[in-house]
Amino acid sequence: MIFGAILAGGTGSRMNIADMPKQFLPLGDKPIILHTLEKFLLCDKMDRVYVGVHPDWVGHMQDLLERQVPQKERVTLVPGGGDRNSTIFNIVDKIEADWGQSDDHLIVTHDAVRPFVTLRILEENIEAARAFGACDTVVSAVDTIVVSENGETISQIPDRRLMYQGQTPQSFRISLLKRLYQSLDEEEKAILTDACKICVVRQTPVRLVEGDVSNLKITTVSDYKIAQAMVGGQVVD
Ligand code: CTP
Repeated sequence: MIFGAILAGGTGSRMNIADMPKQFLPLGDKPIILHTLEKFLLCDKMDRVYVGVHPDWVGHMQDLLERQVPQKERVTLVPGGGDRNSTIFNIVDKIEADWGQSDDHLIVTHDAVRPFVTLRILEENIEAARAFGACDTVVSAVDTIVVSENGETISQIPDRRLMYQGQTPQSFRISLLKRLYQSLDEEEKAILTDACKICVVRQTPVRLVEGDVSNLKITTVSDYKIAQAMVGGQVVD
């Protein structure tokens, strides 16, 4: 089966313009998270969509589902964890409680705050996860990437043609992701906050899927203003 996993367990501390996590702020006619959820529900290959919500906001999300999501029976809410990977594994635990374990289960993990993900990106993630076990959505770096070890002077300027910027979705065969995560000690778990990096440090190939510059992540107020401009809406502050 194919499962969407929308990650909405964060609080949006870098944004901090309202008394709610950024994924619930309005974007045009509805909250950011409902734009993201709508894209997943449009993809008929998704058997179920799980949403990992910050534990204090599960009731709020349930209300949004009841009132504004026509296909709410395809959606399951799960309390988020203390970090992003814990939210992913809370969802994995719930999927396996609901549907059992299977080598055929795929999970498409995605930031709730990337509302402009496209159907093409979702479908290519599903195909790549099925064929290769793990994939990451990326765009070619347009700016030169500069490495600084000390934050003061340049240590290295890698060849830009080899540089990409990671987006989401990141998609996996669930059995593979679980096996790799369980092989980490607590210190590695604390450092490896990116799920694809878990694969990379365990020498497991991660296939690239072409993302889109429009698939932006709303991290700061500036990103929120850009997203509002993209939907032709007003910024709330
Ligand atoms: N996320 C999550 N569970 C966590 C932390 C983050 O599901 N414990 C989710 C966020 O809700 C977001 C995505 O991961 O959709 C990307 O994270 P980020 O933009 O860093 O979100 P926040 O952690 O909310 O933001 P900040 O770091 O500014 O607090």
